[in-house]
Amino acid sequence: MEDLIQQAAIDLVNSKYAIALTGAGMSTESGIRDFRGPQGIWTTDKEAEAKAYKRYDLFLENPKAYWNEMLGEKGTHGAFYREIRNAQPNTGHRGIAELSKMGIIKCVITQNVDGLHEKAGAQYVINYHGTVHKLRCHSCGLRFNFEDVSIDKIPPPCKCGGIIKYDVVHFKEPIPMDIMEQAQDQAMQCDVMIICGTSAVVYPFAGLPRMARQCRGSQLKIIEVNEEPTPLTLDQASDYLIQGKIGEILPEIVRAIERLPITRNEE
Ligand code: APR
Ligand code: ZN
Repeated sequence: MEDLIQQAAIDLVNSKYAIALTGAGMSTESGIRDFRGPQGIWTTDKEAEAKAYKRYDLFLENPKAYWNEMLGEKGTHGAFYREIRNAQPNTGHRGIAELSKMGIIKCVITQNVDGLHEKAGAQYVINYHGTVHKLRCHSCGLRFNFEDVSIDKIPPPCKCGGIIKYDVVHFKEPIPMDIMEQAQDQAMQCDVMIICGTSAVVYPFAGLPRMARQCRGSQLKIIEVNEEPTPLTLDQASDYLIQGKIGEILPEIVRAIERLPITRNEE
């Protein structure tokens, strides 16, 4: 493991444009369960997974029923996401933020909706599946803070005449075009991609590393940090997997970079 951490430090320091791609495994050490890990939400509750797969259809067919389900029995915003909204960043988020502040990681593309990368101080974060902290108009894409939208009348209307929903992207819901384009641009221009805490099975996000590889070939270094191998590992789409806890590995990579004789700002 030490050799791979040293290798990752060298790859990152030598990169011109490194980006991070992250998934739910980033936040398990902040107390937010992942989906497909051994204790994941979908692993342990197939009914919840089935309900999640139908949520976007419910919104399209019956937005009022969607809002009632999202608000939960207490009928208060965040009933659905209470534990996520109050979570704190862990050492893994702080490691990514440190690499971002060093000017090494230029962008973080996350599937997580918890906003913990921003809370940890990462500079440029693309929330690929939206966030629990915002609402979004399904027609014009305008985003709103929760406190700026009254839920006396549900579903809340947008001034464009569209309907407002949670900003999170549900299964089968298209990724907002602005987000999709930004993420693809980043994936196509990076020369190092460090992928942390994702099972890499949900598309189109899981397609980003493959698209980047297709475009950059061996010019691109793909590093995985994950508790278990993923299809990217097994297909050898990634160059190497540092297997273990993100909260331990990321700080070690930062420390290894600090120990390297030449760091970026000394160049
Ligand atoms: N350190 C390293 N790896 C971890 C840790 C940890 N502390 N905790 C979990 N993992 C790994 C798990 O072993 C698993 O391989 O992170 C991965 C998390 O995978 P998923 O639970 O599938 O999460 P993710 O890939 O983000 O899911 C993608 O699916 O349900 C949808 O929209 C949801 O954004 C989510 C998407
Ligand atoms: Zn609108």
